[in-house]
Amino acid sequence: MKVLVIGNGAREHALVWKIARSLLVDGIYALPGNAGTGALANNIDIPLDDIPSIIKKAGQLGIGLAVVGPEAPLAAGMSDLFNQAGIPVFGPSKAAARLESSKSFARDIMQRNNIPCAAGSTFTSYNEAKKYIEGQALPIVVKADGLAAGKGVTVAKTAEEAQGALHSIMVDRAFGTAGDRVVIEECLLGKEVSLLAFSDGVNVIPMVPACDYKRVFDGDQGPNTGGMGSYSPPGFFDQAMTGQVVDMIIKPIVAAMAKEGSPYKGVLYTGIIMTQQGPKVLEFNARFGDPETQVILPRLESDLVEIMLSVIEGKLDRMKIAWSSDACAGVVMSSGGYPGDYRTGTPITISDSLEKDVNIFYAGAAKRGDGIVTSGGRVLTVTATGRSMKEAREKVYRNMPYINFEGCHFRRDIAAREVN
Ligand code: AMP
Ligand code: GLY
Repeated sequence: MKVLVIGNGAREHALVWKIARSLLVDGIYALPGNAGTGALANNIDIPLDDIPSIIKKAGQLGIGLAVVGPEAPLAAGMSDLFNQAGIPVFGPSKAAARLESSKSFARDIMQRNNIPCAAGSTFTSYNEAKKYIEGQALPIVVKADGLAAGKGVTVAKTAEEAQGALHSIMVDRAFGTAGDRVVIEECLLGKEVSLLAFSDGVNVIPMVPACDYKRVFDGDQGPNTGGMGSYSPPGFFDQAMTGQVVDMIIKPIVAAMAKEGSPYKGVLYTGIIMTQQGPKVLEFNARFGDPETQVILPRLESDLVEIMLSVIEGKLDRMKIAWSSDACAGVVMSSGGYPGDYRTGTPITISDSLEKDVNIFYAGAAKRGDGIVTSGGRVLTVTATGRSMKEAREKVYRNMPYINFEGCHFRRDIAAREVN
């Protein structure tokens, strides 16, 4: 079977890396891909928003499975178009992807179905939202309704900060039409965890849990980014908690989507805070998380393509998914200045001393001549596994000095709370 992976991040490099190990696969394409996918797959240079050309190309190549990585093409209906063209696709329909592409849709369906989430309200009027904030306790969370590349959420400690975020979303239109509506929520307190699950529209199987780090600097300082590191499993989140989240949140939302006519097929990412009243949903994503995927897939022992096909065929109930008990830690290396301005085109060097089973999953990295240069803010994710988190963490950090480019930056505290 020939597989096409859509996207160009470290998540997609990790997907290509795992798919390349499937016995069912004899050809892999990445679109548009990056320097990392290019080493394992054929990169196809079509822009992600040119969906008609992508579908046509997939048809010409005889693709037997298309895997959609990022949220924007899912929200634009790429899966529906693959389906119309008769090409099996892994990724939810446009209607199902609303769980991510509209935070107000996600809140409404959770409330209708008694799924625990933060208390809050949705507004289409700037003035009403402004007035609402005045009466609320602090901190308070202000979110653009639509897709905002992970940057549409502000956890405001002061009323001024909350009003500033609201103004930027609804008046300055910092995220365009994603700011037509705004969601304002109470701030949940507790430990945060990402639980991804496969869903075939009816049946669900959870993956192993993971944690990610969104702020750019150690100690969760500085602005939010697309993710600076991750690890799996979090020590505080045991098997019983996974069961609780599956029963209280994931199964009910999958059932509600089916009942309301938009069955959810693909990966459902649930961002959760373990509050004193139990787990509550922060957000849903309609896809694999980045950088969670880079630490989850190295722990997956089963054939990912087999799982994806069983999701598409609605046969997930027949699957057994096996996971390694190893721990995995992942550290993102970014360009200096990210998430603000940064340079690109800087050569990346990898020393021969890099340990063999350390993975480098590339993101903003492009081939130039015989070498690789930076081409984005988040340049690569380095992951390592070990029998314990301590071992995994030590391994990843002792290899970081072997990967280098001018101005590179990474956090030194990924998974530190697990080993201290
Ligand atoms: P999102 O873009 O929806 O992933 O949100 C980004 C981050 O904001 C989350 O990972 C949380 O750390 C934080 N966040 C979002 N909603 C809330 C909330 N209601 N309470 C506390 N933190 C939140
Ligand atoms: N790690 C958060 C996300 O993928 O949106």
